[in-house]
Amino acid sequence: MSTQKVRKAVIPAAGLGTRFLPATKAIPKEMLPIVDVPTVQYIIEEAVASGIEEILIITNSNKHCMENHFDKDYELEARLSESGKTAQVKLINDIANLANIYYVRQKEPKGLGHAVLCAKSFIGNEPFAVLLGDDVVINKGGQPALQQLINAYDKHHASVVGVQTVAEDQVSKYGIVAPNRNVPADGRAVKLDNMVEKPKQEEAPSRMAVLGRYVLTPEIFDLLESQGAGAGGEIQLTDAICRLIDTQAVYAYDFEGIRYDVGDKFGFIKATIDFALERPDLRDQVADYLKEIAEKMK
Ligand code: G1P
Repeated sequence: MSTQKVRKAVIPAAGLGTRFLPATKAIPKEMLPIVDVPTVQYIIEEAVASGIEEILIITNSNKHCMENHFDKDYELEARLSESGKTAQVKLINDIANLANIYYVRQKEPKGLGHAVLCAKSFIGNEPFAVLLGDDVVINKGGQPALQQLINAYDKHHASVVGVQTVAEDQVSKYGIVAPNRNVPADGRAVKLDNMVEKPKQEEAPSRMAVLGRYVLTPEIFDLLESQGAGAGGEIQLTDAICRLIDTQAVYAYDFEGIRYDVGDKFGFIKATIDFALERPDLRDQVADYLKEIAEKMK
């Protein structure tokens, strides 16, 4: 049983962003800002706040500006310094100093499982986290979602997928877990029997959906290597985790926090409004405007 610490994370960011065209024609969807921070930065901040030291982003040829965002920008820094904008200098430097970030390209869009497999040599033989950029999770006043999963990993020494309950008519959008009914839940953690990627509503084993946070043991890589195409003709991470359950315990952890599906237009709008309402510099203005709209709609 491995007792290694979870130090590394993988962020798959090689998707085409088709749901956000035309915005994503030239800009990666991970760089679309919620208020003024790109979505991928929230994901990286969560990883860092959860104790992650090294991050590998899986990209494609269209994602250069993400690398620039997390790099130093000496020219911008010099110009801001010359005009006395010290707060902004700190802001852009803090981004460059967030974590050790590495990049590798997924050469063909063959699915999430294939994207994670691109991290094999970076991860080596240790447990690691996966965070999906479409799922931004805020747990105000509590531990970040990933930290909660890492705690569960430290306790059970087994892979953990982050879940929350979704509405019945939403199950076909997600990986859905089947808890082992013979093993009592340990707080928010349940041992799994099975997992299904995007099941039909009538075939879903539960309403507990995997929402973009995983801690996995490195044995997943051998399984991904031999994993055939699944739902949507893609190599699915869910299918490989499902096979992992045959040889190792895998848990689902019902994490605390509000999860925004920022890969969906309405989810993105909700995140923008909620995040703006949390910002001292915008809260009052935005709240007044929302009240004004609500009044007009009566
Ligand atoms: C992916 C995973 C799915 C998971 C979902 C969470 O699906 O394959 O298991 O439930 O992310 O957002 P996608 O949304 O990329 O189709």
